Amino acid sequence: MLEKVIAEIERYVKQEMGEDPTGHDWHHVDRVRKNALIIAAGEEIGDRNIIEMAALLHDIPDEKLNDSAEAGRNKLDGFLETLGLDQTTKQKINEIVYSISFKGGNGEELPSIEARIVQDADRLDAIGAIGIARAFAYGGKKGQQIFAPELGVRENMTVEEYRNGKSSSINHFYEKLLKLKGLMNTETAIKMAEDRQLFMEAYLTQFSREWDCLI
Ligand code: ADP
Ligand code: NI
Repeated sequence: MLEKVIAEIERYVKQEMGEDPTGHDWHHVDRVRKNALIIAAGEEIGDRNIIEMAALLHDIPDEKLNDSAEAGRNKLDGFLETLGLDQTTKQKINEIVYSISFKGGNGEELPSIEARIVQDADRLDAIGAIGIARAFAYGGKKGQQIFAPELGVRENMTVEEYRNGKSSSINHFYEKLLKLKGLMNTETAIKMAEDRQLFMEAYLTQFSREWDCLI
């Protein structure tokens, strides 16, 4: 039964966001699912079925991938109704999906260990070599520059500024990506973030030496 539900969710997610060019494609979702299950195994905690379903669905209602936040919510609601899940399961999935985004998770206590695990897995995919690729893909789609030092680093942004303010992809590392390791919820994810963090730091060092024409 559950295997069928998971297969149906996979089919739906591939159909809805399979080839998204901003770094939110099927492969992102699949990595978040896999890393979430790795974290759950490392921590020896959490309902693996809930984690897997929520990880697969986590970006479906995202405002930036839909016409509006409401359109996104309706989309997820409508799809969940087709799966024949019980009320509690649907509620747990919704709770995770809506609580884990950077804005939602920014400082607020998450509702469950499952939410903390899926959030860590999503954050792992925003750092390291893959995080670098995603930042430039997203930045290009948004029409922002690779680097614009004159914009400065925006600290403590409101959600509105974060979503709509002017930034560049390199600025985004200082505004968000370098902070994510310190925001991880689980020890397992903190360990998984270590190499990724070092790689991003090395990348930024090299970037800045080339930018300043020092090498
Ligand atoms: P979430 O989906 O967890 O709320 P975001 O929407 O902030 O997270 O980011 C999703 C992906 O898009 C991440 O890989 C992130 O680095 C990238 N991204 C978001 N905003 C920017 C930006 N201004 N410049 C470059 N990349 C960005
Ligand atoms: Ni995501």
